[in-house]
Amino acid sequence: MTAAQSTHRHPRSQMAPPVNLFLFGAHGDLVKRLLVPSLYNLTRDGLVGDALHIIGVDHNKVSDDEYRGKLADFMREMSDKNAKKAGAEGAEPALDSKQWDHLAQRITYLEGDFLDDATYQAVAQRIEASGSRNAIFYLATAPRFFCEVITRLAHAGLLKEGEDQFRRVIVEKPFGSDLKTAQDLNAGILAVMDEKQIYRIDHYLGKETVQNILVSRFSNGLFEAFWNNHYVDHVQITAAETVGVEQRGNFYELTGALRDMVPNHLFQLLAMVAMEPPTAFGADPVRSEKAKVIAAIRPQTPDEAKRNSVRGQYATGEINGTRVPGYREENRVAPDSCTETYVALKLWVDNWRWAGVPFYLRSGKRLGARDTQIAICFKPAPMSPFRDTHVHRMKPNYLIIQIQPDEGMWFDFQAKKPGTTLEIDNIQMGFAYSDFFKMQPSTGYETLLYDCMIGDQTLFQRADNIENGWRAVQPFLDAWKGCTDVHLYAAGSDGPDAADELLRRDGRAWHSLK
Ligand code: BG6
Repeated sequence: MTAAQSTHRHPRSQMAPPVNLFLFGAHGDLVKRLLVPSLYNLTRDGLVGDALHIIGVDHNKVSDDEYRGKLADFMREMSDKNAKKAGAEGAEPALDSKQWDHLAQRITYLEGDFLDDATYQAVAQRIEASGSRNAIFYLATAPRFFCEVITRLAHAGLLKEGEDQFRRVIVEKPFGSDLKTAQDLNAGILAVMDEKQIYRIDHYLGKETVQNILVSRFSNGLFEAFWNNHYVDHVQITAAETVGVEQRGNFYELTGALRDMVPNHLFQLLAMVAMEPPTAFGADPVRSEKAKVIAAIRPQTPDEAKRNSVRGQYATGEINGTRVPGYREENRVAPDSCTETYVALKLWVDNWRWAGVPFYLRSGKRLGARDTQIAICFKPAPMSPFRDTHVHRMKPNYLIIQIQPDEGMWFDFQAKKPGTTLEIDNIQMGFAYSDFFKMQPSTGYETLLYDCMIGDQTLFQRADNIENGWRAVQPFLDAWKGCTDVHLYAAGSDGPDAADELLRRDGRAWHSLK
């Protein structure tokens, strides 16, 4: 067995093995805002130590000290901001300078053009000098560089594994922009490296509450009995944001809400809710079940895709009492843009468990609340026992899996209202994470980085998962060509009326945003 294989059995909660972590795109926002803070958190938790070497790679000319200084400034600024935000409720632990210094002394910088072979020779020299032959290459770059960098790494012999030597690549989202580009990207990558070496990130899988979906479903005997089309009426998956496109107008104009959120984040949630139990919590069993359920999403004809989807775009409005501009007035957005900032879809999963159960998905920017949740709506109880009472309608039960914020799970059910007449009211029984668990501040990237270091691919996307996701959204991408049917909605609202109509015509309604 090679060292690369044996790391798969590395127990969690232990120090990760020695590794050189190369961050391509070292000056980008992702590195500063998420990767370096999560490496700090892993250092704080004792999961990485002296044997981790972090090398930022980018084309700007800066010294090691300047690079470290820039990261340190950001970490301090963020820590002060968090402490202020937490205020009297008890501040998050401020930046511990001892821990930061411990991490910072192992951060260096390598100036290099991603398209120049000399950069890869310099990478090889850094590995040679480090004392460890393990390397992870994190591509926090623009997507156009993914295949270029990987091919150059391979040609420089940097992806060869062996005794005591693992080589892994982490690829960020977006992975392709439709089915064809995702297939081409997979083909390009897999031509030079093995699937076992590639870690495609979806940061939703780093969220505790997302991982908890599988644990809740499969560690409680209760749920399985009613988790099917006999009892479930329909499922709603919502990812609502209050933020707009911020400084990402360029990117968003070409992407839109469907590509940005559905084949990746929302389908991860759908897969977790709808998949069959895996035979084990290992990378292959879990990812195979997910691939099956996404492959079971019914392909829709162009007419069906039009009828079963809504696209919207935010107009000016108010968020938390502040006037905000409409999408077309944002930086780097065309004044006549048709890009959607909101999407709602109706899908079906054509398998024995879910036949006939619609899955309604929606995601949008500049909505009235930040709210990511899964609402499982159960079939209502029969009315007959209540016929001659004051009760005129039976409300359905909902199980709400609250991904963020206020993480937890809630069950909506009916109870008798105290009084002499028989009346019922809706009440909630729930579990809030904050009541039971002390959660350390985290970015969600900690688990993903650590898992890559120990060689666990369970929380990463396999090639077939990615392609199945794009295959399922392709009919909507095709149906949406052109600029018709983009419904405007006021910033701060719950989205366009047409999205309410999508459910109303089925006699249903969206579970309200928080
Ligand atoms: C990213 C999208 O992948 O996810 C962003 O590109 C979106 O547009 C973000 O805002 C949402 O992530 P989270 O963790 O805030 O729900």
